[in-house]
Amino acid sequence: MRIAVLGTGQVGRTLAGRCAQLGHDVVVGTRDPRQTMARTDTDAMGTPPYAQWQAEHPDVALATNAEAGAGADLVVNATNGSVSQAALTDAGVGARDGLVVLDVANVLEFGAGPLPGIGATTEGSLGERLQAAFPAARMVKALNTMNCAVMVDPARVPGDHVVFVAGDDAEAKAVVQDLLGEFGWGSERIVDLGGIVGARATEMYIPLWLSLMGALGTPEFNIALAR
Ligand SMILES: NC(=O)c1ccc[n+]([C@@H]2O[C@H](COP(=O)([O-])OP(=O)(O)OC[C@H]3O[C@@H](n4cnc5c(N)ncnc54)[C@H](OP(=O)(O)O)[C@@H]3O)[C@@H](O)[C@H]2O)c1
Repeated sequence: MRIAVLGTGQVGRTLAGRCAQLGHDVVVGTRDPRQTMARTDTDAMGTPPYAQWQAEHPDVALATNAEAGAGADLVVNATNGSVSQAALTDAGVGARDGLVVLDVANVLEFGAGPLPGIGATTEGSLGERLQAAFPAARMVKALNTMNCAVMVDPARVPGDHVVFVAGDDAEAKAVVQDLLGEFGWGSERIVDLGGIVGARATEMYIPLWLSLMGALGTPEFNIALAR
C-alpha cells in the first residue's frame, strides 16, 4: 500500500517507520521539507530533530503534504489535532473521492490547569469534524488511546489490551483493521465502536490517559476489557 503519514513528530515517525518495515511504500508529509530537515532542536516532547530520524530511515521519503497525499491509498493523520484540518486540506484529502484516512490525532490545549483542554465533548470530536470537513473521504478513528510505541507494537504491554476503531464506512474500517493486524493487533483485540461518532468517546478518554501516565510513571499501558 502507498501510505502518506502526515506528521513529522514522534507519532508520525513511529507509524511511518513501522509501515515501511512492513513493506509499505511510505511518504511522510510536512509543510516544508527543507525547513523540517533543517531543524536542529528537539521538540517540546524531547523528540530529536527530524533529520536524525530520516538518516536512520532512508526507506521513508519526506515530501510536502500535497505531494505525500497525491496517489496515497491511505492517509494517516498524525498531526497536532488543532491544525489537522489544515494539514489534510494541504494533502488534498478533500479532492480524493473515497480516500481512507486513519485519524490518530487528539486535540490537546496546554494551559495553566492541571489537565490540558481537549477537543472532544459529548457533542462532537475531531474525528467527526474532519469527516464533516472532508465528506468524500472515509475517516477512521483509531490508535489515539495509547502511546505511539504501543500503537505499532502491542506486545510492549502484556495482556489482551485493545484498540478501538470508529468510522462510518465498513470498507474503510476493514482497510485500517488489516493494517492494525499487521502491527500485531489480533482481530479479537480490535473493538469496533461503530460510526465516527465513537471518536467522541476515545478522544474524551485522554484526560484519564494523562492521569494514568502520571500515576503509573510510564506511557506504556493500555485498556483491557473484561466481559
Ligand atoms: N504522543 C503519542 O504517543 C500520541 C498518542 C496518541 C495520539 N497522539 C496524537 O498524535 C498526533 C501527533 O503527535 P506528535 O506528538 O507526533 O506531534 P505534534 O507535535 O502533535 O504534531 C506535529 C505535526 O503537526 C504539524 N503542524 C503543526 N502546526 C501546523 C500547522 N499550523 N499546519 C499544519 N501542520 C502543522 C507539524 O507539521 P510540520 O511537519 O509541517 O511541522 C507536525 O507534522 C497529535 O494529534 C497527538 O495528540 C499522540
